[in-house]
Amino acid sequence: MKQRENFGSKLGIIMATAGSALGLGNIYRFPVEAGNNGGGAFLIVYIAVALLIGAPLMISEFIIGRRSRSNPIGAFRTISGKRTPFTLVGWGGVLSAFLILAFYTTVAGWTLGYLGKSILNHFGGQDLPQIQAQFTAFVDHPWLPIVCQLAFLAMTAVVVLRGVAKGIERWSKILMPLLLVIMVVLCVKSLTLPGAAKGLQFLFQPDFSKITGKVLISALGQSFFSLSIGMGALITYGSYIAKSDNLVSSAGSVVLADTLVAILAGIIIFPAAFSFGIKPEVGASLAFTTLPLVFQQMHGGYFFCLLFFLLLVIATLTSTISLLEVIVAALTEEYKLKRSQAAWLGAAITAVIGVLATISMRSSNPLAIGGTSVFDLLDHATALYLMPLGGLFIVLFVGWRMKKADTMAELTNDGTLRAGIRKAILFIIRYLCPLAIAIIFISQLIK
Ligand code: PHE
Repeated sequence: MKQRENFGSKLGIIMATAGSALGLGNIYRFPVEAGNNGGGAFLIVYIAVALLIGAPLMISEFIIGRRSRSNPIGAFRTISGKRTPFTLVGWGGVLSAFLILAFYTTVAGWTLGYLGKSILNHFGGQDLPQIQAQFTAFVDHPWLPIVCQLAFLAMTAVVVLRGVAKGIERWSKILMPLLLVIMVVLCVKSLTLPGAAKGLQFLFQPDFSKITGKVLISALGQSFFSLSIGMGALITYGSYIAKSDNLVSSAGSVVLADTLVAILAGIIIFPAAFSFGIKPEVGASLAFTTLPLVFQQMHGGYFFCLLFFLLLVIATLTSTISLLEVIVAALTEEYKLKRSQAAWLGAAITAVIGVLATISMRSSNPLAIGGTSVFDLLDHATALYLMPLGGLFIVLFVGWRMKKADTMAELTNDGTLRAGIRKAILFIIRYLCPLAIAIIFISQLIK
C-alpha cells in the first residue's frame, strides 16, 4: 500500500482547512459581493447558506477524502469500486482548481504589491483621490501586477513541493490566529470613524425585499468559494485526516471561523467606506482603497498596515496552496508525476490563464468576452456554476451513492462518537442540501 502523508494533529486539520478557507474570499470577495447585493440582505442569506449547506458539504468532502485516501479524481472511483459518472466530479474539481487559481492569483499579486507599497510607505499622508489613483496606476501598470502574480504562484509551488503536512500546517497554525487579532484591532478603529454607523446599518439591517434570485445564487457561490467547497480541495485535505479526528466538530469550527472573519472584514470595510465616501458597490478596489485609508487614521498606521498586508499575503498563500494541492495530488496519483514536476507544471498552466485575467483588470479593459472581463468570467464560471454543481454531486454521492453504514462509520469514527446528531446531519446531506442547491441553481438559470 502506498504511504500517504497525514496531518500531524487534530489542530493541524482545523488549521490547514481554515488556512484554505480564510483568504481573499473573506477579506476581498465577501465585501465586494455584499456591497453589490444589498448588504444586510446578502449577509443573512449568506449565514444561512454557510451553516445549512456549507457545513454539511464540508463534512461530506471530508468523508469522501478520508474514506478514499485519494485525490478527487481517484476518490469517487475508489469508493464506488469502479469508474462511475461521479468521477467527472473529480475532474470538474481539478478544472475548477486551475480556473480559480488563475484569477485568485491576480488579486494575490495585488496583495504582494500592496505589501511592497506599505513597506515603501506609499500611503502615508494620502487622501481618497490619491489612494484611488494609486490603485488604478497599480493595476494598469504594464508588468508590475503580472510579476507580482507570477511571484505569488512561484511561492505557492515552492511550499506545495515540500509536502502538505510540513508546509501548510506549520504556517497556518501560527499566523491565522495573528490575522484574527489584527482584524479585531482594525474593527475597533473602523467603528470609531465619523459616520461609521451608516456602514453598520448597511451590513446588518436586512431589507428583505432585496432578497432576489441573484442574491441567493451570489450568496451560495460566495459561501462555496469562501469555504473552499464544491471543488475537491477539502476532499484532498480530507484524505490527509487521521482516522481519530472528529470530522463534524472540525468542519464546524472552520465554518464558524470563516464566517466570523468574513463578518469582521465587513465590519472593517463598510463603516470605513461610508465614512470616507466610498460607494459599497465600487467592486474590485473596495478593500484596496478603504483599508489604506483606515490605517492613515491610526496611531502606528505604518506598522499596522505593513503587518496587515503581510498577514493577508500569508492567508492568501495558505489558500493558493490548497488549490495547487488539488492539482498536484491529481497529477501525482493519476499520472504518476513527481511532486516537483506536478507543482511546476500546475503553476505554469495556471500562469498562462492567470496573466490574461490580470491584464483584463486594467481600467481600459481590452480583454473581455461579451462585455465581461476574463477575470469575471473565471470568477463566475467557478463560483456560480462549477462549484454549486460540484457541491450538488458531492452531497448526492455521500447521501445516496455511498453505503449508509460506511458514511456513518466515517461520521462516528467507527461507532466511537455519538450517532444522534450525526444521523441528523446525514439527513440534511441527503435531502436539504441537494434540494436547496438545485433550487437556487435552477432558479438562476431560468431567470
Ligand atoms: N476559500 C478561499 C478564500 O476564501 C479560496 C478558495 C476557494 C480556496 C476554493 C480553495 C478552494 O480565499
